[in-house]
Amino acid sequence: MREAETMAKRKFGIGRFWSIVLTLLIIYGLIKWVIPAASRYITTLPFPLPVPGTLTFMYMVLTLISLFMLVTFSDTHMNEFLRPVKKFLRGGYGKIPRAVILVIIPVVVGWQVYDVTVPKVELPSSLRIQHPSSNFPKKFEPLANPFSNPSEADVTAFVEEAKDGEVTFIPQVTADIERWEEEIGPDHVLEFIPTAPMKKFLAELVDDKVAPETAKAALLEKNLFEGRALYAMNCRPCHGDSVAGDGPMADGFKLRPINFTDNGTIETIVEGYTFWRVANGGPGLPTEATPWDSAMPEWKLSLTEEERWKIILAEYDLAQKTPRIPESH
Ligand code: HEC
Repeated sequence: MREAETMAKRKFGIGRFWSIVLTLLIIYGLIKWVIPAASRYITTLPFPLPVPGTLTFMYMVLTLISLFMLVTFSDTHMNEFLRPVKKFLRGGYGKIPRAVILVIIPVVVGWQVYDVTVPKVELPSSLRIQHPSSNFPKKFEPLANPFSNPSEADVTAFVEEAKDGEVTFIPQVTADIERWEEEIGPDHVLEFIPTAPMKKFLAELVDDKVAPETAKAALLEKNLFEGRALYAMNCRPCHGDSVAGDGPMADGFKLRPINFTDNGTIETIVEGYTFWRVANGGPGLPTEATPWDSAMPEWKLSLTEEERWKIILAEYDLAQKTPRIPESH
């Protein structure tokens, strides 16, 4: 027995009891701090991923079982393990330390039991306000989409351009349109948008008697086409082809991209508000409403005002919704 003890001491220098305590502490430390630190290094996220409490509990139980098997493996191991415990209980380390520890252990255990069982007062989980308005600048409220109701001057300019065959499109689509023109050789570039109002406009253009309403409808078609193209390039990954918030990336976000066909979304807000939301995205949400973890990008950084308005035009059109009308005071 003496020999075995000296063997354990020779191996670890601390005896079996303390080597078991140390093993427990090291394993707990690994689970509690080392794995989260490593997760941060592996995922490169700005925060560690902690090991869930139940998993920690399971690991610790498994560790305890294996240590128990090790200790009870033979009488020698058992005695080695118990020797400092018995010595302590007999007052071999002094009577005062024994008294202190014998008081501390029940108090700590009692406190734990109390802490786990006592009913807790918790705040209810906060509800998300879909349309926070505390930092919505008032000047945006009366804004109307310049492309949904083009001015007479804009319409006239468009008719002139169409007559000369010099309609300009947003740069994002020109390459595609030019390729199409080379391939098809159309009579007019606007044939690229083969909708009924556009066909009517082109027919009237050939006869040189364009009615203002026809021209206006055709210009709206062109703006809608550009808006849809910009939507597909920028918004579709999250908000989806169907504008129902089901794009290929949508499932990746805890706060799902908004479903524009839902009656509680873009239909209930004035256009100026939509414009402000699109411009400022998740980072523009008021601080009192955080944390929202909104993935909605801040579009004023990468889209011009014109592009944003055209997208909003297409967004309402695709969702078959109309914006709320601003209240006149
Ligand atoms: C990376 C994913 C992502 C992309 C890309 C994205 N959005 Fe969003 N969008 C979201 C999420 C998530 C929300 C819901 C959270 C919120 O309200 O901020 C949202 C909300 C919105 C809302 C608020 C609707 C409401 O009723 O409050 C509008 C409007 C919107 N998006 C428009 C757009 C437009 C326009 C584009 C393209 C220019 C776009 N989004 C691109 C993720 C995205």
